[in-house]
Amino acid sequence: MVVKAEKISRTFLRNKAGTNFFYAVQSTDFQAESGEFIEIVGKSGSGKSTFLNMLAGLLTPTEGKVYIGNTDLYLSEDGERSQFRNENIGVIPQGQTGLLSLTVLENVLLPSKIYGKCDGEKIVRAEELLKAVGLYDLKDVYPNELSGGEMRRMAIARALIMQPSVILADEPTGDLDEENTALVMSLLKNAAKGGATVIMVTHDKDALSYADKVYSMSGGVLSEKTA
Ligand SMILES: Nc1ncnc2c1ncn2[C@@H]1O[C@H](COP(=O)(O)OP(=O)(O)OP(=O)(O)O)[C@@H](O)[C@H]1O
Ligand SMILES: [Mg+2]
Repeated sequence: MVVKAEKISRTFLRNKAGTNFFYAVQSTDFQAESGEFIEIVGKSGSGKSTFLNMLAGLLTPTEGKVYIGNTDLYLSEDGERSQFRNENIGVIPQGQTGLLSLTVLENVLLPSKIYGKCDGEKIVRAEELLKAVGLYDLKDVYPNELSGGEMRRMAIARALIMQPSVILADEPTGDLDEENTALVMSLLKNAAKGGATVIMVTHDKDALSYADKVYSMSGGVLSEKTA
């Protein structure tokens, strides 16, 4: 699905340069097509996660609109937006996420359980994804037994369980070794080949070769990098 942002910006409250707010993301137009693999680079604090979270339906823009396909994302109320996100957008958040009271397999199945869509087919898919990220042998353990990189790979499997047409990944290879980075990148690349729109934030120079387009975020300003 097409991901489109029209003049989105985001301010946060903070005393800076004589005002009590600042723009984490300045007014930005952006569009990504189905099947496109886009990467965003930029310094820490430049606004990458803020931008991605607005595209994900997780952070309301101060101004502007986000469209996922024909859906005006922030027009709907929270519950409706959550359900839309659950069905259409796979989000791999920055940092560690995982419900500690669920096993690895249950964590991966969680998006399908929330709206009652967990069936045999989803369990097979969850197991396949766990094999793909090299965690199948750990499917019955709890997240507190996992390493940082294993937890991250679990989050990637969870983001892909619903076969989302949009994938938003915030430094998905941040704590992975070369081998696992290549594995995760090929999973994401294959999703794009299958028609998903993939937008990924990364600091990983090795990951950039997978991108159709690379953008750079600097001081809340997004610009396309020319090769
Ligand atoms: N909830 C918040 N309230 C106030 N300021 C925030 C909030 N979230 C982010 N910021 C600020 O907005 C700016 C952009 O943050 P953001 O998380 O988007 O950066 P980033 O580019 O993802 O950085 P990193 O590479 O370290 O993850 C930073 O200055 C940060 O401190
Ligand atoms: Mg970030």
